[in-house]
Amino acid sequence: MGDRRPAVDAGGSVCSAAAPSRTTPRVLGGRARGPPAGVDPVRSLEAARAASRPGLRAAYTPRVVLPPGPSSSALLQTLAWVRRPVRLMRACRAAYGPTFRLRFAGGRDFVFVTRPEHVKEVFTADPGLVLAGRANAAFARFMGPHSLFALDGEAHRRHRRLLVPPFHGERMRAYGPLLVALTRRHLARWPRGRPFSLTAALQALTLDAIFEAVFGVTDARTMARLTGLVARLTSRASALLAFVPFLRLDLGPWSPWGRFVRCRAELDAILFEAIARARRAGGEDILAKLIEESVRRGEPLGDDELRDELLTLLGAGHETTATGLAWTLSRLLAAPAALERARAEVQEVVGQADPSAEHLPRLTFLDAVVQEALRLDPPVPIAVRQLAAPARLAGYDLPADTRLAPCIWLAQRDPEAFPDPDAFRPERFLGARRGPAAAFTWFPFGGGARVCIGMAFALFEMKLILATLLQAARLRPAAAFSGRAERHAIVLTPAGGAPVTLEDA
Ligand code: HEM
Repeated sequence: MGDRRPAVDAGGSVCSAAAPSRTTPRVLGGRARGPPAGVDPVRSLEAARAASRPGLRAAYTPRVVLPPGPSSSALLQTLAWVRRPVRLMRACRAAYGPTFRLRFAGGRDFVFVTRPEHVKEVFTADPGLVLAGRANAAFARFMGPHSLFALDGEAHRRHRRLLVPPFHGERMRAYGPLLVALTRRHLARWPRGRPFSLTAALQALTLDAIFEAVFGVTDARTMARLTGLVARLTSRASALLAFVPFLRLDLGPWSPWGRFVRCRAELDAILFEAIARARRAGGEDILAKLIEESVRRGEPLGDDELRDELLTLLGAGHETTATGLAWTLSRLLAAPAALERARAEVQEVVGQADPSAEHLPRLTFLDAVVQEALRLDPPVPIAVRQLAAPARLAGYDLPADTRLAPCIWLAQRDPEAFPDPDAFRPERFLGARRGPAAAFTWFPFGGGARVCIGMAFALFEMKLILATLLQAARLRPAAAFSGRAERHAIVLTPAGGAPVTLEDA
């Protein structure tokens, strides 16, 4: 029997055409499928052996059965994903169920999975079968071929080994005073008594945090130049460049890609200067620690590799954190009881002292607020992997190269995992013990071998900034909170930039 659920058009609205049937599979290409070229036959054997084990594994089968999804053109689906991602995700979930397919420009099939057991299969699969680097190839154009995002296999493991230590435990604590001082500096510059965009203000703050804590750049002129370049590189036009390949043509300084390439060259020059300084003089910043770690391990990174990783940390780290903060504050400002409780907790635990790493374990409600905001409004809506070989997932037989997209946004709004899922209720995270299964219902930082490298830093930064703001400022919403999201490059931010007005506390 065919699936009679309605299809969704590219705008995310439900239309009347029948969804592709689950039981009458579409066979792509029509040729028999053995192990694809380039796949190690030993791994094929291992895959056959692994057949008796549970979990996602390669399945060399001539059958291809894709999940249902919209029938509109790939270009229209891409535009809907860029312009109205939440509406599209919600409509597809309602029309096709927990596993569905979207087709993006270039004929790329993305299989969205939302059930925890399928998310788990993707995150715990052999990283040689579910490639993130290949799936992220578009980012390599922005961040360079040595970017952690763009790497797979041994090269990825090597870079991750070197990048993890500078972000770990004790090192985080060292950035506390810097983050609090930066927050106070920015707060002093925010306008009083007239509306401004909280999202923009927080982006400026988290950008400076990356410049200082990661790049070791502290002089005001360079920071201002960097800020201007980043704004141009992360504009709405740049988001389109990531998704629409034919726009990536350098037709001179006035063409979108031409402008982008020139901007990147200017940014590169500043980054190479920072690298030369860190090599010469060392320092406490993440760049200097990364160089130190790579030399210590006898695996020194070249200037190009370091430049690509700096761009990666910048691209991955500033807007995500700013967006997480903007959502958290917007949600709090729209929930006066929660706001008062968070403020009272900061007052009780921190008083008038500088918020620090020592205070954080006792700021339990603030911690719950951050978790709940990252659940409701995850800055990054999906994680992505690309199949290196055909595989079976959620009852579908997927060909090699299919993109798997554990859908953070939908999974975290699943009423089975989170009753009354659209409500902002930080209490649900109070005293909660999230076991291993629950890890696949809350995963704003992705999972498995590619889980966000900056997770600890981001949570630490968010809580210190929030505590500092709650302690020293009274923010009021300047417009009713709609909860609507809009895309900015790869993140989903509060629509309209979350306008607020500020009074001193
Ligand atoms: C609230 C803030 C943040 C959120 C929501 C976030 C989210 C994510 C997500 C969803 C991924 C993909 C994981 C996957 O594919 O499974 C990721 C990867 C990554 N993130 Fe973050 N991130 C945040 C902050 C940061 C910060 C502060 C940094 C560094 C300064 C950072 C650096 C990275 C890097 C380098 C990767 C790639 C890891 C790899 O491919 O091995 N992120 N992040």
